[in-house]
Amino acid sequence: MIRQLSIRRPDDWHVHLREGEMLRAVLPAHATVYGRFVAMPNLSIPVTTRALARAYRAGIFVAMPDGVRAEPLIPCYLTEDTSVEELIAGHQAGDFFGAKFYPVGATTLSRAGVRDIRRLYPLFEVMQKHGVPLLMHGEVVDDDVDFYDRERVFVETSLSDLVRHFPELTMTMEHLTTKEAVDFVADHQHCSRLAGSITLHHLLLTCSDMLNNGLRADYFCYPLVKTASDRAAVRGAATSGRACYFLGTDSAPHLKSQKYCATAKAGIFTAPVSLPGYAAVFEAEGALENLEGFASIYGAEHYGLPVHEDQITLKKTPVQNLPSELSVDADAVRVFSTPTEWHIV
Ligand code: DOR
Ligand code: ZN
Repeated sequence: MIRQLSIRRPDDWHVHLREGEMLRAVLPAHATVYGRFVAMPNLSIPVTTRALARAYRAGIFVAMPDGVRAEPLIPCYLTEDTSVEELIAGHQAGDFFGAKFYPVGATTLSRAGVRDIRRLYPLFEVMQKHGVPLLMHGEVVDDDVDFYDRERVFVETSLSDLVRHFPELTMTMEHLTTKEAVDFVADHQHCSRLAGSITLHHLLLTCSDMLNNGLRADYFCYPLVKTASDRAAVRGAATSGRACYFLGTDSAPHLKSQKYCATAKAGIFTAPVSLPGYAAVFEAEGALENLEGFASIYGAEHYGLPVHEDQITLKKTPVQNLPSELSVDADAVRVFSTPTEWHIV
């Protein structure tokens, strides 16, 4: 039985770090593990301009623990008014790592997002030409679409159209949750530049976990966790060794006061347990040898970036007690709890 595993330093291609005290509290768990991380732009003022992206990057570096070297990558928050010039110049100067599509109302701070993705097609043409990746919250928000079908309907309608129109555009369908979505990504890996990222919580949870024995705000996120058969498909995809799937935690901290209340915020804070948690899933699926590709290689390849030369080591030790929450001002953020014997050494 494998008790120790060294892999190239991983990257997290989707994380929420927030700002201020929250950023300071959650960043170390991330930056000490992941060499690069895509810090999502859904801030209280969405990161829609180069100046905002630069300010956010600077804030992340101020919060970075001493001696830790990690690189934040910040996508441009797409709106229906995004300026092509700003996006392309920002991408070329390294202010923006691609562009993030949020449908209006799909998730936390998505009010400034996009109502009709087709309005962005002229922008996507230019992004395709200049090699700017498109990161997608792939759900359709519509009163006629059941909440549980939001991702499936996006795949059937928007995504199928996107791969047809933009076969050379680097696209990431983020936080895959359904069998239809993982199958679509695999089916189009050779005729498009589409890949998908996968969270730890969608590998572990189903809607029964969220709804059994009372409503569990800790397991509430967008896209919603789905059925056991969807989860099996997502686990099969992540651990398959296929280069079209890679790690994106979507770790999303919320204060306890905003989680355990009448209108709980969506998002699961997995960062401190994420890499050990993924290792436990890969081990349970008999695929530990595929962890390095998923965590440290395929995402970099998808985005045309070099992999890291340094390594990180995971060791199996009896379950240790990780902190169950982090203090933030007078409040706290609860850490997702998952039993794993893997620990980073
Ligand atoms: O559950 C989620 N929380 N999903 C997202 O897409 C956003 C995130 C957040 O920012 O809290
Ligand atoms: Zn997210």
